[in-house]
Amino acid sequence: MVPDTFFSGLDHIGIAVRSIDEARRCFESLFGAVFEQTEEVAEQQVRIAWLRIGTGPAALRLELLEPTSVDSPVGKFLASRGPGVHHVALATAGLDRALAVLAAADTPLIDPTPRRGAHGARIAFLHPRAAEGVLVELCEHAPRSKDAQAETP
Ligand code: CO
Repeated sequence: MVPDTFFSGLDHIGIAVRSIDEARRCFESLFGAVFEQTEEVAEQQVRIAWLRIGTGPAALRLELLEPTSVDSPVGKFLASRGPGVHHVALATAGLDRALAVLAAADTPLIDPTPRRGAHGARIAFLHPRAAEGVLVELCEHAPRSKDAQAETP
């Protein structure tokens, strides 16, 4: 079992959307969400927009995922399930150790080794069957003073 100290809480919620523009307007008008930035992740064939709801340490970050191809992972998700919650991301400062402990317990992992996420973060996904059908992302942000160490080999 992974010690609970491995995780510091919720990092963000990923939401599959057909249109970032429409979803952004929706969350802005409903919850006063604040748009932060967009980026495109070519290898995942997805456009991403980051929104923030609220301020302070409990602020919620939303990652809106709009596929650029119907054959992409998010495109297939939308086709089968429609828009909605795609994944939940937990923040950790010990991604490598967490993955090692999970792998040692035969936890189904999509990413046995970390890959590069947004903002220089290192991330890894568990398989949904590991966590009651929930796709869970583990997210380790780059230390501000040690950005060079955050690069995924
Ligand atoms: Co995410």
